[in-house]
Amino acid sequence: MTKARPTAVLDGLGSCLPPRVLTNEDVKRRGSLNTSDAWIRSRTGIARRRVAEDDISTGDLAVAAGRAAQESAGALADLVLVATTTPDRRCPATAPEVAERLGLGPVPAFDLSAVCSGFLYGLTVAASLVRTGVCARPLVIGAETYSRIVDPLDRDSAVIFGDGAGAVLLRPGDRAEPGALAATDWGADGGGADLIAIAVGGARRPDPEGRTSREERSFRMRGRQVYGQAVRRMTDSSRAVLAAAGWSPDVVGAFIGHQANQRILDAVADRVGIPASRCHGNLRDVGNTAAASLPLALAATAARRRVQPGTATLLTAFGGGLTWASVALTWPAARPCDLPPEPRTGPGTTPTEHRRNPSWTVSTTIS
Ligand code: UT7
Repeated sequence: MTKARPTAVLDGLGSCLPPRVLTNEDVKRRGSLNTSDAWIRSRTGIARRRVAEDDISTGDLAVAAGRAAQESAGALADLVLVATTTPDRRCPATAPEVAERLGLGPVPAFDLSAVCSGFLYGLTVAASLVRTGVCARPLVIGAETYSRIVDPLDRDSAVIFGDGAGAVLLRPGDRAEPGALAATDWGADGGGADLIAIAVGGARRPDPEGRTSREERSFRMRGRQVYGQAVRRMTDSSRAVLAAAGWSPDVVGAFIGHQANQRILDAVADRVGIPASRCHGNLRDVGNTAAASLPLALAATAARRRVQPGTATLLTAFGGGLTWASVALTWPAARPCDLPPEPRTGPGTTPTEHRRNPSWTVSTTIS
């Protein structure tokens, strides 16, 4: 008799938020924006977000979240995948340095770019590597510092984006275990590439002299058009992954969607047929953190202990590309761990000293 292939099981959950909080009033003041706290709360569900100070990079957040996921699982990774739109450098990828700073030795490490769907794309890739025996303990990190690419004067994006990182550590297991992945769905439509984009800075328009406008060099999102696509794609992908898992919407006990806008999440849950009482997340406190959004919401929800291990769970995301992805899994038994950022060169401290210094302890009270 042939042995069944293992499935990937979510074994550790970690997160890291930079300490600085930016309220809606701060966002309004910073860009002299014609907006208000009341508008942002009612139209997006966001009250505040975190932003990384200049000495904290995407890699610093990724190292802390990755370390936290490993601590949560009590195990070390044998592959590191960093999903990000805001890598530390354009070349090389951020992941090898993250792996090195985690002390993992010469494990394979690479970045994955699928904008806000990056974490679920990464989870899909990592789960297949576990299933096929290519690796046993991939660390999937979603880490972003959108504050570096968003134009504070752009009303569509300045009000929703924030910084942070979340991570999961996988291991081989079987489908009956809490945290087991049951099915995945993903897709892309490059015809919508201009809807979420940074126009300049890539190989098509390099602009080495910096002659282009701030608008062209910054992240831009056509909010209304993206809104419609986000609802449609996440709804379709959620339905597809539920069909692949053989689950009807009423068995789904927990739903976490990409934290872009509460109204988008409500619309997707409603169309898929999931009641509000089963929807979870932390959008209000962290805003849209792109590839970090889902692992941050997973860790925050697990910290609140509102979902029983083994509960049928649906994750869905949508982002630039356009890209979308969904994962059906059971709720993990893992206890989340949350650590402060580990700046590579802090004010006279090493990363290890940062971890011991209580002034760096971040309170991630999420209600
Ligand atoms: O993470 C990747 C995917 N990203 C997303 O899924 C985000 C998708 N888009 C959105 O979340 C929303 O489209 C925004 C938050 C960006 C904008 O919200 P909206 O409800 O779609 O606003 P709208 O563009 O349809 O504009 C409605 C009204 C307009 O006023 P009038 O013409 O009705 O008087 C806008 O001028 O709201 C006004 N408005 C604002 N007012 C205050 C638009 N943005 C703002 C703002 N503050 N930031």
